[in-house]
Amino acid sequence: MGSLKEPPRLPGGSFAAWSRDRLATARRGAAECGDVWQLEPGVYVAATAGACEDVLHRARDFRKASSPLFPPLRPSGGAPTAEERARAHTARMRGLRPQAVVARTGEIAAGTARFAEQLPTGRDVEILPLVRHALAEVGVRYLFSEDAPALLPFAARLFLARELLARPSRWVWPPWIPTPARRFRTRQQVAFTDALRPVVRRRLAPGPLGDDLLGQMLRPSPHHGLLPEQAVLDTLPGITVATFEAPSRAAGWILLHLARYPEAADRVAAEAALLPADPAATTGEHLESLRYTRALVHEVLRLHPPSWLLTRQAQRRTELAGCTVDAGSTVLVCPYTAHRDAREHPDPDRFRPERWLDDAGSSAKPGAFLSFGTGPHGCEGAALAMEMLTLLTAQTARRHRLSEPPGPEAAYRVTTFVGLATDGLRLRAASRPSAVPHAPG
Ligand code: HEM
Repeated sequence: MGSLKEPPRLPGGSFAAWSRDRLATARRGAAECGDVWQLEPGVYVAATAGACEDVLHRARDFRKASSPLFPPLRPSGGAPTAEERARAHTARMRGLRPQAVVARTGEIAAGTARFAEQLPTGRDVEILPLVRHALAEVGVRYLFSEDAPALLPFAARLFLARELLARPSRWVWPPWIPTPARRFRTRQQVAFTDALRPVVRRRLAPGPLGDDLLGQMLRPSPHHGLLPEQAVLDTLPGITVATFEAPSRAAGWILLHLARYPEAADRVAAEAALLPADPAATTGEHLESLRYTRALVHEVLRLHPPSWLLTRQAQRRTELAGCTVDAGSTVLVCPYTAHRDAREHPDPDRFRPERWLDDAGSSAKPGAFLSFGTGPHGCEGAALAMEMLTLLTAQTARRHRLSEPPGPEAAYRVTTFVGLATDGLRLRAASRPSAVPHAPG
């Protein structure tokens, strides 16, 4: 390691340039410096697929910050131990693994269909609040089934708390300072937990635990027995927001692409015409048949990964892509630039869903795809997110043609702080003439 160099600095790539336009600076860094570059002393960007994957897989060398969005509400304020975290992860994954998600396709399809049915037509509408509301209903129902309506208002306020916390601020306050946003977050977390506790206790009393994610978490594991009640309560605020936050950001980009690429939208609509008329009758096989729709979702997530920058801390002085990284430095992993590398995806800036299909219509050999991260901290909800987004896309294209508002004014602003999003996105829906009649269920 003695002969290794520091990662190159981007000429003119000051922190000010980064603050002005993070996406453009990230792209320039990748183009001019390669795998890893230096934003400022002690802050590096892993820009290409190999470097990103290396950081995400080497979780001991590059640690994910242990400051969760909703820290445990324990009287001691202590963080859960590694073993407690692992047990909670295992319990969540019982409800989030692909087979568990596919088993609930009908319910998810019914929820996403409501978005398409209720989308106003003939006028420009701000679409993100509508899609967020619809996906929150789907996500919260996925977690809590018939207890979802009582918890949904609390979930919406947890989301608001998350937004307030993520707003860019001039100061980085030490974590122990109770800023107004942090106090708001704690109040909402306490309110959510107080509403959830009686649900957990009722389910644990003799009777059915439920087949939803909460029910899966409450089942004893053969090795560890029951997950303690506090661990269940600690883990669920974050998961609740996760079920609809990044998915609704992704949905904004997807709906924008349906508006911009009418031929692609027609192709999705043709696939969706084969879905049953009653969305609740949708099965895993129907979902399987939505090949082009899934490819389109992948392609939008490739071009616009909602979590476009992931943060890690180097635990020791180590090597990354032939450079040294000092202990304690921050490494920003950038799926956005990794996905726009021509060696991974030819003609990388072009929207081409077909790149995810081979000629026979089955999955092609994929290039790098890091929208859900990878390694030990990879996304737990990837299967759920892909299913929600595939169904929402198919059902929306089946019912509507979307367009951007006419005129010179941009239909949205790209924001990069809470994630990569289409802030303020306005779209117009028109009923697709071929939308009725539906195929028989
Ligand atoms: C399009 C939608 C989504 C995207 C783009 C997305 C993206 C990601 C990414 C990139 C990570 C890795 C973060 C890192 O390495 O620092 C992650 C982690 C995670 N995601 Fe997602 N996610 C989505 C939906 C969901 C859903 C629906 C859920 C839950 C039900 C979920 C739950 C989680 C959890 C719990 C983690 C943390 C895993 C860990 O730290 O061990 N995500 N997600």
